[in-house]
Amino acid sequence: MKTMRFPMLVIALCLGLVAYTQQRHETFRPKQVWTDTDGNPINAHGGGILYHEGTYYWYGEYKARRSFLPQGGMRDGNANSISCYSSRDLLNWKFEGFALRTEPENRNSDLHPSQVIERPKVVYNKKTGQFVMWFHSDSPNYARASAGVAVSDTPVGPFQYLGSFRPNGSMSRDQTLFVDDDGTAYQFASSEENQTMHINRLTDDYLRPDGQFVRRFVGMAREAPAVFKHDGRYYVITSACTGWDPNKAELAVADSIMGEWRVIGNPCTGEGADRTFMGQSNYVIQTPQGYIACFDMWNKYDLGDSRYIWLPLTIDAATGTISIPWREEWSPE
Ligand code: DGJ
Repeated sequence: MKTMRFPMLVIALCLGLVAYTQQRHETFRPKQVWTDTDGNPINAHGGGILYHEGTYYWYGEYKARRSFLPQGGMRDGNANSISCYSSRDLLNWKFEGFALRTEPENRNSDLHPSQVIERPKVVYNKKTGQFVMWFHSDSPNYARASAGVAVSDTPVGPFQYLGSFRPNGSMSRDQTLFVDDDGTAYQFASSEENQTMHINRLTDDYLRPDGQFVRRFVGMAREAPAVFKHDGRYYVITSACTGWDPNKAELAVADSIMGEWRVIGNPCTGEGADRTFMGQSNYVIQTPQGYIACFDMWNKYDLGDSRYIWLPLTIDAATGTISIPWREEWSPE
């Protein structure tokens, strides 16, 4: 028996190494199933990325397979919770559990699995030392149109839910957060029945709107905002409003965040660019190497099998032209 131990150990180590290298990703492969470090498909849709102390955190909607709301309800008890993954290289993600869980026992809660919990975004508040999450909180028929807010002392949570409201008394559906270099935070939200975007400035603790807001893209019916800043200017990628179906993306620019926004046009190029490669914008990540544009490729018949389209966002040094070219596979370098 004793002589068998060493070879068995070597075999076990080799098998472990094979499994480990099989799960490691060296490239981004848009539209393909993207597995986490346990080998399970990453389940974090409509998500947002937070970079904190050397680690990226990815928060998103945890969808159950064939989990279409509004009337159907969920099969998986965790469906509609907000999942959290962590990574150092943006390619290999470890499942950290649920940052915010649904409350299946509480029918009256915004966090009941029957409710809409979409597009979570988390930012860090340097003044309070808290991680602040905002998400689209809605009723099953999307009539409540509110924003939910939760806080945590750690990036992975669990976040403590503070409640939902309509920012500045206005509807809030697809939404994102943006923190400017001076620490001021803003919420961008599709408002007024999705016809007009509201940009709501937040209080110093990021927990409420501070009362200052502007109406932009008036009557243009834009949703899925993904905001980033480059060279002192502000950019937002949005989609048109066609439910879970893809449409043409649009990029807009502003010199000041609450100022006037000018529509530039579709930043996507290459095969499928007219329908955002079958995706919908959700976030733009700024990395030391450049920007990554993140899109959801929704599968409305099986939302749990929705995929991700992460592509490099390039900025032409001479002309400043921003484009998101299609790539079947690419590496961060
Ligand atoms: C489009 C939005 O962008 C999604 O987040 C989701 O709310 C779907 N509509 C629902 O139809």
